[in-house]
Amino acid sequence: MDKKFLFPQVKGLLHGGDYNPEQWLDRPDILEKDIEYMKEAGINSVTMGVFSWSVHEPTEGNINFDWLSEIMDRLYENGIYTILATPTGARPAWLDEKYPSAMRCNEMGVRNRHGVRHNHCMQSPEFREKVRIIDSALAKKFSGHPGLLMWHISNELGGFCYCDTCRKKFQEWLAEKYDHDIEKLNKAWWTTFWSHRFNSFDQIDPPYANGENCVLGLNLDWKRFTTWSATDFMKFEIDTLKSNGATEPTTTNFMEMFYDYDYHYMSQFIDVISWDNYPEMHNNWQTDADHLLERSFNHALFRSMKPHQPFMMMESAPGLVNWRPFNKYRRPGMHELISMQAIAGGSDTVQYFQIRKSRGSSEQWHGAVIDHIGTDDTRVFKEVAKLGADLNKISEITGSISDNKVAILYDWDNRWAIDDAWALSNETKNFDKTCMNIYNEFMSMGIEPDIISSDSDWSNYKIICAPMLYVLHDGIGSKIADFVSAGGQFMSTYFTGYVNKDLLANLGGFPGDGLDKVFGLRSEEIDTLYPEDKVSISILNKTGKSAYHVNVNDYQEMLRDVTADVLAKYDNDYMTGKPAITCNSYGDGKAYYVACRTNQADIEFIYREMLDNAGIVYTKLPIGIEKHTRYSDEYRYDFYLNCTSDAIAVSNITGLNLLNNLETEDKLKLNSYEVAVIKNPR
Ligand code: GLA
Ligand code: ZN
Repeated sequence: MDKKFLFPQVKGLLHGGDYNPEQWLDRPDILEKDIEYMKEAGINSVTMGVFSWSVHEPTEGNINFDWLSEIMDRLYENGIYTILATPTGARPAWLDEKYPSAMRCNEMGVRNRHGVRHNHCMQSPEFREKVRIIDSALAKKFSGHPGLLMWHISNELGGFCYCDTCRKKFQEWLAEKYDHDIEKLNKAWWTTFWSHRFNSFDQIDPPYANGENCVLGLNLDWKRFTTWSATDFMKFEIDTLKSNGATEPTTTNFMEMFYDYDYHYMSQFIDVISWDNYPEMHNNWQTDADHLLERSFNHALFRSMKPHQPFMMMESAPGLVNWRPFNKYRRPGMHELISMQAIAGGSDTVQYFQIRKSRGSSEQWHGAVIDHIGTDDTRVFKEVAKLGADLNKISEITGSISDNKVAILYDWDNRWAIDDAWALSNETKNFDKTCMNIYNEFMSMGIEPDIISSDSDWSNYKIICAPMLYVLHDGIGSKIADFVSAGGQFMSTYFTGYVNKDLLANLGGFPGDGLDKVFGLRSEEIDTLYPEDKVSISILNKTGKSAYHVNVNDYQEMLRDVTADVLAKYDNDYMTGKPAITCNSYGDGKAYYVACRTNQADIEFIYREMLDNAGIVYTKLPIGIEKHTRYSDEYRYDFYLNCTSDAIAVSNITGLNLLNNLETEDKLKLNSYEVAVIKNPR
């Protein structure tokens, strides 16, 4: 497995973060201290210019980058690289004053006033023109600078604009999608229902809050359109940079399991995946270990978008954030654990928001490497510096990648469609949580799944779990059939294969698109349970007798035409004796169907069976231990993270721990929040 270096010019992993020297131009003493402290903390990169537009261009057309260029040079002389952002995350006052179309309209179609950030209309021609001018100037000035690592497009793209320009664009996008044939759209959206037929594309509105928002096909196409629109804006910025000489790689910082846009679509148009990781540690509803598993799921999601190269953790908070209902400091050692978890999950960077705390305004109390006290002996600074030193100890892992054989399907349009469906209970749909629980189940056995889409390349996987795959993309039925018949282990659940990509119900039984044959069953009813309902299933032994009972929550499907082997049966009510979990041999593989919702740990036997069938070796880990693996062509690096504040020992571990240079033979002892990186030949 060849290493893939994101930045060949950098030795080792990237350590750094957002840096806003423009807030301190009148304090050269502070700017000087910053460099001294960065070097002390092992920081080798900064991200600059994220919200610098009003400094770059204080009045229209009056662009000056002298401040930036001077600082970039000085940083580079001191061994610190720069990631340069386009400044479009926030707009100067002059721009909105002169070009109001840059300001987004809300879901009632009312235009915002000037202010805040991340709220521009991505289709406004006037705004785009101003973006083109500033981005061209940036690219001309800085591309090719030896200290420049990459371009960071805008910041945390998100949200929707309901202005007339976007409305028009939506109509054009629909016309294109439905071949300029309004009848095709009427059919796909089933608009004869409630008299919602359209005569022409220009009658169609976005789903305004006070307008049409009950046509589910429209809602879903609006989501797809807004993904397209944000991507179109991002591509416009990338094209502008490139056509003005930029040759460095590009990224945009994604957010955790972000709901607004389909990141699988967006990720195709950037060179490197990066995301902003803000765990809510030490909260009052979860253990640290459980919360960290949610972060781990996110790392897996972003890693899997470009599985053959590392990703970047573009932001994380030194100490704490300041925008949560309760802003709690990370306890000693947690900084290293969170940072190493990102590396373990496949990131080649640990980056922060922010290097130095801003003195005023809304983020003045957000964590930073350098605090208002201005010294290098704070607890946070010392933990950052320790991490910097530890990243150096493991620098040989730079460019190594993962090689996972298990994957979970996670499609954005499926998420949206499940939530928008008038079905089940809006309180318990929990698609995201269901995917995460399956992920956690594998992680507890030391097996790290990737998180992929229906449209991803599946060729590396032996096991794929597709819980609640309600929406079937075109061709997915035969893709699954091919995967299973070639020997794959596939698992799905209740609420699978109900609709096609237009949200029209699949006729002839669920799961549709031929999947009934793959699973050897059809589903006839899905019943929603109240939280108090007591329902269970019997897991059967080899002779077909009940071995033990498992509780069911939220949903139970009634199956029919079952030709698959029955692994569990319902215990209650009118479903008593009917199949609840099945396994169908199909070609060389197996297709498992779990018709009801249970705790994943209660049906662990299915996961064990799939792993055994696939020939994947696994070991149950002690509770609170996370394991991740990265590979180079010669070595494997197993990361063991103790996600609890208690000491834990893991058995059967041999190899060199790069973090303390000690050989482990059998028992690996990990103290509170401790991490080990164990190196072995592949
Ligand atoms: C986001 C933004 C940053 C900053 C941080 C604060 O991730 O990208 O500019 O506001 O949040 O946590
Ligand atoms: Zn708009």
